[in-house]
Amino acid sequence: MPEVKLALLGFGNVGQALARLLLEKRADLRRNYSLEWKAVGLFTRAHGSAIDRHGINLESALDYMARGNPLDKLPIETAPVDALDFIDTCAADVLFENSPVSYTDGEPALTHLRRALEHGMHAITANKGPVVHGYQQLRELAASMGRKFYFESTVMDGAPIFSLWREALPAAELKSLRGVLNSTTNLILTQMESGSTFEAAVRHAQDIGIAETDPSGDIDGWDASVKVAVLVTVLMDQQIRLADVKRQGIRSISLREVQAAVQDGRRWKLVCQAERTPDGMQASVQPELIGREDPLYNVMGTSSAVTFHSDVLGALTITEEDPGPHTTAYGLLADMLNAVVQGEAPAARAD
Ligand SMILES: NC(=O)c1ccc[n+]([C@@H]2O[C@H](COP(=O)([O-])OP(=O)(O)OC[C@H]3O[C@@H](n4cnc5c(N)ncnc54)[C@H](OP(=O)(O)O)[C@@H]3O)[C@@H](O)[C@H]2O)c1
Repeated sequence: MPEVKLALLGFGNVGQALARLLLEKRADLRRNYSLEWKAVGLFTRAHGSAIDRHGINLESALDYMARGNPLDKLPIETAPVDALDFIDTCAADVLFENSPVSYTDGEPALTHLRRALEHGMHAITANKGPVVHGYQQLRELAASMGRKFYFESTVMDGAPIFSLWREALPAAELKSLRGVLNSTTNLILTQMESGSTFEAAVRHAQDIGIAETDPSGDIDGWDASVKVAVLVTVLMDQQIRLADVKRQGIRSISLREVQAAVQDGRRWKLVCQAERTPDGMQASVQPELIGREDPLYNVMGTSSAVTFHSDVLGALTITEEDPGPHTTAYGLLADMLNAVVQGEAPAARAD
């Protein structure tokens, strides 16, 4: 297999975790998939960018980022002027798009992914925005170019959701789903069960790096809603807008209510749901008081879980523990392998 040329647009928490994982897995990929790779481009908004068709040393790039040195000071061929110039110039086979999410229009990631596909690259992202706002067009463009548009890490990080439905559940029809899909709110509710105030629990989530400086995207249910919209759009083949997901966050739940629930053998969870009904798609994100019999009862801390009901199987639940940029990076790596080795695995495996 020829060497695969990789471009990482977005080299923050996720992009850097992907770089570390690529380095860690280099020997495995060579041995098990005869796959060689080189990074030909790295892009950040304010920390420099780099293009080099001979390959960029990722250890040095990670070291530069850790020291706060801009990437364009690496020994490289050229530095792009902006993100589109980066995509036009880097001549990669695979673009990983990991820029910040935009709930409102999916940009600029949507434009980045479209441009990469137009250049004949596989387009892979952990960014939910372009899936909600451009799934159909990106899927059709990818098909017309004979390339893949994959986004495993957009929901439950590296846990296999989309590849499971794509590869392992042919002809199954998803009827409904229900889950806990936002780590930050689940951690906050777990902390409140142990007596933390809401504010202290938010600070804890920020201290361990899972909540942003402005945590409202999680607390007010936006992140969970956009994940529901992604799942419905892709797995139920029904394009829905973020506004179609009935949304309520966890701000209104008091410490007293959380602790009273615990006394009563119950728990508050921010529950995500979607269901095909005779009246159309019903999708929601809202706090629910649930009992011990509920499969979501033991989903604690940063863990998440989703239960699928299909026309062919009973309840099928996937749970993920200890998520973070490293698990998100695995979803991206798996997407890359599925895109470039597809049709050849497992025969392509050397074992
Ligand atoms: N963190 C996770 O565990 C996780 C899990 C699942 C999905 N995701 C998704 O993965 C994506 C990346 O997350 P992250 O945690 O790595 O974010 P991050 O640490 O903020 O990194 C974002 C990267 O994108 C660059 N960037 C910012 N604005 C840009 C723009 N307009 N055009 C191009 N690049 C831009 C940033 O450059 P500067 O730093 O120079 O601004 C940085 O390199 C997000 O869409 C997020 O929702 C993250």
